[in-house]
Amino acid sequence: MSIRTLIAGNWKMNGTPEFGVTLAKELTQNFTCDKVDMLICPSFTSLIPVADTLKDGCVKLGAQNVHAEASGAHTGEISAEMLKACGCEYVITGHSERRAAGETDDQVAAKTCAALEGGLTPILCIGENAKMQPAEAQEVLEKQLRASMKNIAVTEGSQVVIAYEPVWAIGTGLVPTIDDLKEAFTFLRQLVIKTYGEEVGSKIRLLYGGSLNAENAADILAVTDINGGLIGGASLKAPSFLAIAEVASQYAERKA
Ligand code: PGA
Repeated sequence: MSIRTLIAGNWKMNGTPEFGVTLAKELTQNFTCDKVDMLICPSFTSLIPVADTLKDGCVKLGAQNVHAEASGAHTGEISAEMLKACGCEYVITGHSERRAAGETDDQVAAKTCAALEGGLTPILCIGENAKMQPAEAQEVLEKQLRASMKNIAVTEGSQVVIAYEPVWAIGTGLVPTIDDLKEAFTFLRQLVIKTYGEEVGSKIRLLYGGSLNAENAADILAVTDINGGLIGGASLKAPSFLAIAEVASQYAERKA
């Protein structure tokens, strides 16, 4: 069964609304979603103007964080309902930069559930902090995934997107070898199948993230169990993000 590829941009804490609108316009004017899906995740302050820019195209909108509660006394936080009302369809949960700032597996699990309950697709990030042997890394990934998805029912499993982002590869220009990626993604696919059953596990989108760019996209996106990418730096300029999406489109056809 083929899984639709997702090319997702995580803009992190970059850009004013004006920057976001300009970039979103370039993407939406130069991309057709016939073969793969494209998603951008700007900062909160850019969501509404960017949603307006995207409204006639196929590029989707997501946020970078969500609060676990639906409403209440949580100064400075944003709920899933608020994101949905801004036009978001996706939200990133458990990004390593938030985990490094203190977010725990329990909090990530609660946010991932809140996203689903609020009608958003969570992109749940996992990844080992330092370079390690494959078996050791797999142990870390299994622990993180089980803890972060512990409250997700089998019926909801296929609505979660999982992004494997080795922390040491994020923003560094370093990427795992293709053999290591093949091993990691085969492991992740088996893990989600073991956890959610063949039917659900074989439908879950698995993304790679960490220094993915227009030059290495072909090698990385060719890996069978990689169903797209979560892209930071290379998503901040339309030409590089569009180039990755173009490569993804070619592989989507070959993998189908
Ligand atoms: P990068 O970031 O592509 O700049 O390495 C990826 C991410 O943090 O999601």
